[in-house]
Amino acid sequence: MNTRPSLQNRLLVLTLTAVASIWLLATAMTWFDARHELDEVLDGHLAQAASLLTTHQVHEIIEKGESREPRTLHKYAPKVMYQVFHGGRLGLRSANAPDTPILDDGKELKAGFTSIQIKNREWRVFSTIGVESDVQVYVAEEVQARTAILYAVLRSMILPFIIALPILGLALWFAVRQGMSPITRLGRVLEQRQPAAVNPIEMDGTSKETQTVIQALNGLLERIAGLMESERRFTADAAHELRTPLAALRTQAQVAMAEHDEIKRQRALKNTLEACDRTSRLIEQLLTLSRLENNAEAEFLLFDMSATIRKQLADIAPKAISRNQKMELDMDCHCSINGNEILMSVLIRNLIDNAVRYSPEAAQILIHLSYINSLYILTIEDSGNGLSDQDIARLGERFFRIQSNAESGSGLGWSIAKRIAKAHHMDLQAERSEKLGGLKVTLSIPAPN
Ligand SMILES: Nc1ncnc2c1ncn2[C@@H]1O[C@H](COP(=O)(O)OP(=O)(O)O)[C@@H](O)[C@H]1O
Ligand SMILES: [Mg+2]
Repeated sequence: MNTRPSLQNRLLVLTLTAVASIWLLATAMTWFDARHELDEVLDGHLAQAASLLTTHQVHEIIEKGESREPRTLHKYAPKVMYQVFHGGRLGLRSANAPDTPILDDGKELKAGFTSIQIKNREWRVFSTIGVESDVQVYVAEEVQARTAILYAVLRSMILPFIIALPILGLALWFAVRQGMSPITRLGRVLEQRQPAAVNPIEMDGTSKETQTVIQALNGLLERIAGLMESERRFTADAAHELRTPLAALRTQAQVAMAEHDEIKRQRALKNTLEACDRTSRLIEQLLTLSRLENNAEAEFLLFDMSATIRKQLADIAPKAISRNQKMELDMDCHCSINGNEILMSVLIRNLIDNAVRYSPEAAQILIHLSYINSLYILTIEDSGNGLSDQDIARLGERFFRIQSNAESGSGLGWSIAKRIAKAHHMDLQAERSEKLGGLKVTLSIPAPN
């Protein structure tokens, strides 16, 4: 089961948290602001009421004895109270006010606001003295009444939010789901692909972001396809190139087995070991070729190319002799080049081997090396049947073979040769031989500076 957190849920939670936080902050700000404003307005009302009360002719009321129990006129009235004293005697008061001054700390009364506790309730009191200084006025309001107003404001903010939150959540869920759908679809497309599929991902109706991911994935797939192809190529090349040295190894081992003379046997065994070494070097170099094609750097050294040509010729000569073919080597110059000696041996052996293999008995093979305009030109010509222009154009295609010829082969020799030539910045071409009538292969080798 996939236990990783879903991107969709994360987005949803993050957005909802952000919205809730902003709303909480706004509510807190409104609360403080409203409290301040409310205090100011209600304090103003208290002061206003007090100043109205100071204008009453309280002493007349007292003298006439008209002071009577007042009535409660509004349900809000118990939340406010007032007292008017004249010369220390109560003149007027609200129904809920006591007979004695609510502020009686023994000190001389000063106009202003105070907060006091009456019967465990907090009251905001405004006290003042009248025009006649022996008139004292107290107007008080219960603080809880103010808080109730604030709570009402808060409720009116919270309620819509509580109702809106699930709706917002649902709308966001839909929006996020819609927004994420290209990613979800890409996931499904990738899931449905065959494990070995390296063809580019094709998906229409994608977003800009997923298009970038698809492009990056396609780039990666292309590189993987290249690597897989080069691995396949390496396997086939190795199989092609190892046939000859393995056959030689087998011959040497057979010779060693059949030999009774100890010295000759030792020589045959030594040859076997050398063939083993050559084979492992060859495998290594084929790996080098495979890496070269993947843009890796190979170690190129200056080496004697004339010697390499001679050596390859000597190796193939027995086969030519057995076929009664006439091989001729003509070198106008000595050739030293910069490159990989083993890979170059593979290239030359393949070309000479083709001339021997695909020319009939008693054919003539001419190998010529010359130096023209900073280039070493190596040509290998034979008097065989040659190839048509179409077939010449196809040389270098992997597994290209002429079906009619009796010789066994895999059609990889030219492909390997061409790639080695390319890695060495050499040019390899084939054409009809004017001189011998068969195939003429030309390798142009840039001379080292
Ligand atoms: N010198 C040549 N004369 C005639 N045909 C040739 C010659 N060289 C190559 N070919 C043809 O080209 C085909 C491809 O050669 P190559 O790539 O070396 O593969 P292979 O492994 O079959 O030798 C051969 O099958 C052969 O038919
Ligand atoms: Mg060949």
